[in-house]
Amino acid sequence: MKALLLAGGLGTRLRPLTENLAKPMALVGNRPWLEHLIVHLKQQGIVDFVIAVKHYPEMIQRYFGDGQAWGVNIEYAVEKKLLGTAGAIKNAETLLSDRFLAVNADIVHQVSLLPLLDFHVKHKGGVTIGLTEVDDPSQFGVVEQRDTGEIIRFVEKPDKESAPSNRINAGIYVMEKEVLKWIPQGREVSIERETFPLLIERNVGVYGTLIDGYWMDLGTKNRYRQVHWDLLDRKLSLPLREKEHGTGILIGEESEVAQGVLIVPPVLIGRRVKIGERSVIGPYAVIGDGCELGKGVRCSETIMWNGCKVRDAAQLKNCIIGYGLELEASHILHEAVMNRTAGGGQG
Ligand code: GTP
Repeated sequence: MKALLLAGGLGTRLRPLTENLAKPMALVGNRPWLEHLIVHLKQQGIVDFVIAVKHYPEMIQRYFGDGQAWGVNIEYAVEKKLLGTAGAIKNAETLLSDRFLAVNADIVHQVSLLPLLDFHVKHKGGVTIGLTEVDDPSQFGVVEQRDTGEIIRFVEKPDKESAPSNRINAGIYVMEKEVLKWIPQGREVSIERETFPLLIERNVGVYGTLIDGYWMDLGTKNRYRQVHWDLLDRKLSLPLREKEHGTGILIGEESEVAQGVLIVPPVLIGRRVKIGERSVIGPYAVIGDGCELGKGVRCSETIMWNGCKVRDAAQLKNCIIGYGLELEASHILHEAVMNRTAGGGQG
């Protein structure tokens, strides 16, 4: 069975980080999330991938190539214009297996696929949607289901009191290729708003079942941060290259931490990082590969991508700093979200 990874959205809610980046390539624990995703799915037996790309496609194609370096096969379905979540699946049709897994590539998850697949095979639907439960459904579309798991309808952003359930679409589906005949070609189509309601109306058999394991969508800056704090708190487990140097302190190869630096866990420091004297790093800091932090820098609740330079005495709290940025000594940044081309922005 092939997996189709939907990786072409504009990621507007994660701007400015996504102004020059495909959202699923955002770093999670110092590696592109998409890489973690492919590794996770491979561990579950999937070796054939199709990646549906549109926004910065070459970035994804250059990084993964044909997938050989990861021991998998990767093909690409490239969109000339934005086709939406269902339009992108339709566009990839010729590359897909008769039954396939479709995954929103911006969902950080550790879901085991076998129960989802078993459910799909047993219930013989056209689509089985992985569902996850949320505390407050009022910001999501929730499902109403029969006892069999068949979905009767989706209710967008219901009041907490009147919501038929607190189960939302987790962005992970098992689909029969034959249902793609219900998706029009060549125009933008949303799977949530258009395709699933149509499939329910046509009695194609749209089922939903709860998935287990960690689940969080990367779509907003707050959730992007939360994924990192969950990683540092070990609520999310990902294969990291960095090794533990004391409880909650992970440091990569060839990194140099000067005398008198105070590291307050939990902290993740990448490879070839330099940290100058008397700096205070953490709690909750993720420093990317090759970053250089001067003397007396303070950095907490912050995610910094590879190759940044932070001058002496700069202070960062609750920031997300994109690739290769240079921050001056005078910088005292609080809740800044910055990237190289787009400059700064409050997040
Ligand atoms: P926002 O603009 O912030 O809503 O982000 P988005 O559109 O990138 O994300 P959304 O949550 O709407 O999409 C869910 C997943 O589908 C993400 O992994 C997107 O990359 C992907 N996606 C959304 N639209 C498209 C599309 O037109 N083509 C492709 N190939 N993927 C898409």
